[in-house]
Amino acid sequence: MANKTYHIVTFGCQMNERDSETLAGMLEDLGYTYCPEFKAADVCILNTCSVRENADKRFYGVLGQLKNPHEENPGRIVCVCGCMMQQQIHIDTLKAKYPWVDLVFGTHNIAEFPKLYANVAEQHAKIVDVWQDGEAIAEGLPAKREYPFKAYVSIMQGCNNFCTYCIVPYTRGRERSRAPQPILEEIKCLAAGGTKEIMLLGQNVNSYAGGISFAQLLKEIDKIEGIERVRFMTSHPKDISDELIECFGSLKHLCHQIHLPVQAGSDRVLKRMNRHYDSAKYLEIIRKLRKACPDIAISTDIIVGFPGETEEDFMSTLDLVRQAEYDSAFTFIYSVRHGTPAEKYEDQVPEDVKHERFNRLVDVIHEIQEKKAAAYQDAVLPVLIEGPSKTDPSMLTGRTESNKTVDLPGDPSLIGKIVPVKIVKAQTFSLYGKLIEQ
Ligand code: 5AD
Ligand code: SF4
Repeated sequence: MANKTYHIVTFGCQMNERDSETLAGMLEDLGYTYCPEFKAADVCILNTCSVRENADKRFYGVLGQLKNPHEENPGRIVCVCGCMMQQQIHIDTLKAKYPWVDLVFGTHNIAEFPKLYANVAEQHAKIVDVWQDGEAIAEGLPAKREYPFKAYVSIMQGCNNFCTYCIVPYTRGRERSRAPQPILEEIKCLAAGGTKEIMLLGQNVNSYAGGISFAQLLKEIDKIEGIERVRFMTSHPKDISDELIECFGSLKHLCHQIHLPVQAGSDRVLKRMNRHYDSAKYLEIIRKLRKACPDIAISTDIIVGFPGETEEDFMSTLDLVRQAEYDSAFTFIYSVRHGTPAEKYEDQVPEDVKHERFNRLVDVIHEIQEKKAAAYQDAVLPVLIEGPSKTDPSMLTGRTESNKTVDLPGDPSLIGKIVPVKIVKAQTFSLYGKLIEQ
């Protein structure tokens, strides 16, 4: 198969990015090469996300751009997969409005992709194959990693928490953990290939249940030669153990950084979200984390306008945000997800109120971030250089251990190295640095 090309558009979270790396690896094994122009590729895969309505809309927008794909390139094959495909409503829409889509599969049968793809390519069949729940996580699948120096490693998939706003338990199924051995082997193999940083992935990594605790898994990973930075996401506050908190103080390679979604600061709202903690318990975890690791950077996710959220509830969120002093926060306007319990809640918050609260929350977060950023001024920090800066390609960009990006002048030969950088300009949303000669 000479010169056939592929392009994958990935929506959503790191889980999806990791799945797309597997799909890219499978296509490369079949002899395909990557094509940067998505409309020019022979095989287009769209890996969808359902977490909020915006992601749904973006997917349909991008799919629409491929209109008449077979007229432009009669041999082109269009595949759609990911979280949206786990919902019949989207499969029905595809069948009705985009009948030219060739292959639809879901989050649970990615390992089947080469087989499904071969059927489509060889027999010109149209296939829809979506499984309702997952089996054990498949081992040994290929992967074309985006970067040679940092890598995602999935340790568990699925979610058992059923937060009342969230679609993920329905699209990703029940929790399944990989055994420790293949995880450690994968990381050793990455280290041997020059990977310095790994990000452990799971919808809820600290409920890892592969036979050892998540903290024990971290301790094993910490011993692997060559891996200099370990991060993980996402964590659920209800599953943060003291053993895990201690890891931040004791493990050599665990980055001093944690993403700990709080979602809301009102205990009444947290209960209706089915989060299994209250604001006091959450703040207690933050206090313990900072005690074990005083320079830990903490980030979070917050939803505003959850059904029934009153002004008083919202004020409790602002209050918690001020107390937690987040280094960064991802803020979301509540978006009704079909099939979730909160869809049926009758006290939905009006759109204008949601937007007004969202703006107030963002203002408070920015105030805190401004203060936090100032503390970076003149600091000398190890930075993993990732590539040219997105805003100014003549500069390099890298990441601090706290996961902040830093732009700096420097030679591209530094890409993939961890180097000491002095922060010369610390702004709220961007840090500028200068290389310290070693
Ligand atoms: N509406 C808005 N935000 C949501 N999230 C999950 N579901 C919804 C929803 N229905 C947010 C949560 C989660 C992040 C990945 O997306 O904050 O942590
Ligand atoms: Fe989106 Fe969630 Fe699916 Fe990730 S798991 S792609 S965030 S719906």
